[in-house]
Amino acid sequence: MNILVIGAGGREHALCWKIAQSPKVKRLYCAPGNGGIAQIAECVDIKVDDVGLLLQFALRKKIDLTIVGPEASLVAGIVDAFTSKGLKIFGPSQAAAELEGSKVFAKEFMHRRNIPTAVYKVFDDASKALVFLEKAQFPLVVKADGIAAGKGVYVCADLPQAKTAIDEIMVRKIFGAAGNRVVIEECLQGPEVSVLAVCDGKHFLVLPTAQDHKRIFDDDLGPNTGGMGTFSPSPLVTIEVLDPIITRIIEPTIRGMYQEGNPFKGILFAGLMLTADGPKALEFNVRFGDPETQSILPRLKSDIVEMFLAACDGRLDELKIKWDERPCVCVVIASGGYPGKYQNGFTISGLDEIKEPETFVFHAGTKVEGSGLVTNGGRVLGVSAIAKSFEAAAAKAYNAVSKIKFEHMFFRRDIATRIVKEKAAHGRH
Ligand code: AMP
Ligand code: GLY
Repeated sequence: MNILVIGAGGREHALCWKIAQSPKVKRLYCAPGNGGIAQIAECVDIKVDDVGLLLQFALRKKIDLTIVGPEASLVAGIVDAFTSKGLKIFGPSQAAAELEGSKVFAKEFMHRRNIPTAVYKVFDDASKALVFLEKAQFPLVVKADGIAAGKGVYVCADLPQAKTAIDEIMVRKIFGAAGNRVVIEECLQGPEVSVLAVCDGKHFLVLPTAQDHKRIFDDDLGPNTGGMGTFSPSPLVTIEVLDPIITRIIEPTIRGMYQEGNPFKGILFAGLMLTADGPKALEFNVRFGDPETQSILPRLKSDIVEMFLAACDGRLDELKIKWDERPCVCVVIASGGYPGKYQNGFTISGLDEIKEPETFVFHAGTKVEGSGLVTNGGRVLGVSAIAKSFEAAAAKAYNAVSKIKFEHMFFRRDIATRIVKEKAAHGRH
């Protein structure tokens, strides 16, 4: 088969790496790809939301299956464009991608379908939102309706913070049209987990859980990032915790989308808060997580192409997926300054020295320049390792990280540390 992967991050490198292991693959392309992906796939310089050019390319190269990484392509309607030309593509339609593309859509859907979520109100007018806020109880959360590069959510401790949120989102429009409407909602408390499911419109299979580390600094300090490291599985999500997540959130979402004429195909990524009243949905994404994917896919033992084909063809109920029981830890190495300003173009060295089995270096912001590799983004590399315990996997990943060098490189030193400590404490009781 000829396969096309869309995207340029660590998530897409992990996808390409896993897809390349399938005996079904004849040619693998990635648009636009990165320095690491270029080693295993043919990279094509087309932007992820240029649906017209991507479609032309797929038709010309006789692509049998397309896998979409980022939400930008999905929200731009790539799945509708490809399927209308008879091309097989894994991901939700533009209408189904609204679960991520519009927080108002997602909240109204959850409300209609009785899916547990924070109590909310929608405003399309800043002055009305402010009147509401004057009388509201704090803390609460203000969210831009549309996609805002992961920055459109403001958890507000008091009225002045909420006023700032409304000013930035609705008045100054720092996220553009994404801020035409806001959701104001109850602030939920509890540990946060993500559950991802692969869906075919009617059936779904839950993937192993993973836990992200969103803040830039150790001990979860500093500003939010796209994610500085993950581990899989999340020990927080025991079978008892997972059961209501599936029956009250995932399953009613898939059924509801189907019944409302928007069957959901692709990856449903539910961001959840484990509250005292049970799990509640914070948000949906309609794609693989980054860097969650970099700690989930190394644990996949089955052929990922089989999984994508079963999902595209609506026969996930016939599929069994095998997973490695052992944990995986992924440490992200970023450019110094990220998530703020940073410089690109620094030479990356040491990758050749990483020879440990079951250690994987997934590239995100890298680019081939001359005969070498240079930095080309905020998150540069994700180093994943599998081992028999979290402790051993983290040690293996950090050992590999210690061999990598580039100017101003930065990484968190505590990915999976808390889980190792908690497990050790648990073991003593
Ligand atoms: P979202 O993009 O909706 O997942 O929001 C980003 C982050 O904001 C989440 O990962 C949570 O940490 C936080 N958040 C979102 N909604 C709420 C809420 N209702 N209560 C508390 N925290 C929230
Ligand atoms: N790591 C969070 C996300 O992919 O949205």
